[in-house]
Amino acid sequence: MKSIHFENIDSTNTYLKNNYEHLDDQTFVSADNQTNGKGRNTRTWISEDSKNLLFSLLLKNNLEHYQELSIISAYSIIKVLEKYNLKDLMIKWPNDVYVSDSKICGILLEGISTDRLLCLIIGIGLNVNQDTFEGEYLTKPTSMKLELHKDIDINTLKKEVYQSLIDNINKLNNGYNFYEDISKYDYLVNKEVYATINNKKERVRVIKINEDYSLKIILNNTELNINSGEISFHI
Ligand code: BTN
Repeated sequence: MKSIHFENIDSTNTYLKNNYEHLDDQTFVSADNQTNGKGRNTRTWISEDSKNLLFSLLLKNNLEHYQELSIISAYSIIKVLEKYNLKDLMIKWPNDVYVSDSKICGILLEGISTDRLLCLIIGIGLNVNQDTFEGEYLTKPTSMKLELHKDIDINTLKKEVYQSLIDNINKLNNGYNFYEDISKYDYLVNKEVYATINNKKERVRVIKINEDYSLKIILNNTELNINSGEISFHI
């Protein structure tokens, strides 16, 4: 495991963005605390110091699978959480991990490109031992501690998460199709939700995650298949 750990850093994603050129493929960067943690859609990611697993994984090879990597990352987290006996785990397409209707993990996938994609950075915030969440959240947060009523060893968890991600990314690169594995965790299936499409809030019906990991929805009686990143959903 090529890993770097910081007690304090602005953001593990930003660190990799600034340093990817001289780092190896599959370098893992974690932090106890981020002073400028980033969430999706320019939101901030706030996490109590040393309570959660905050890390980013750098990918420099096999980048053609970038569309699938969000959902495969969420699935990799679920596989670890199941070993800790967490129940009702779901993937809210494309990449949030939920326990019932609460969010336990967020994923921010960023890429650096010129005329071609140079690297991908998978940033993951998994709520582990934090048991109070103050402030405003789009979705109610939860953590492993809130679900399991005990503290979790973050270092052990970190190694398990890293291994799960690497195993599944390697499987993906070797042509494995995760569709069957993933579809049973589809949180949005058959739900009526709000979706922000071109900055406009629309009511849509989600049909399901497709075999190519895009999402089938119905908007104004028209069926559409959308790829991750084009749209955000609110229940
Ligand atoms: C989301 O909005 O749901 C995505 C949150 C991603 C947060 C993680 S924490 C580690 C990595 N570094 C960041 O600045 N963001 C990601």
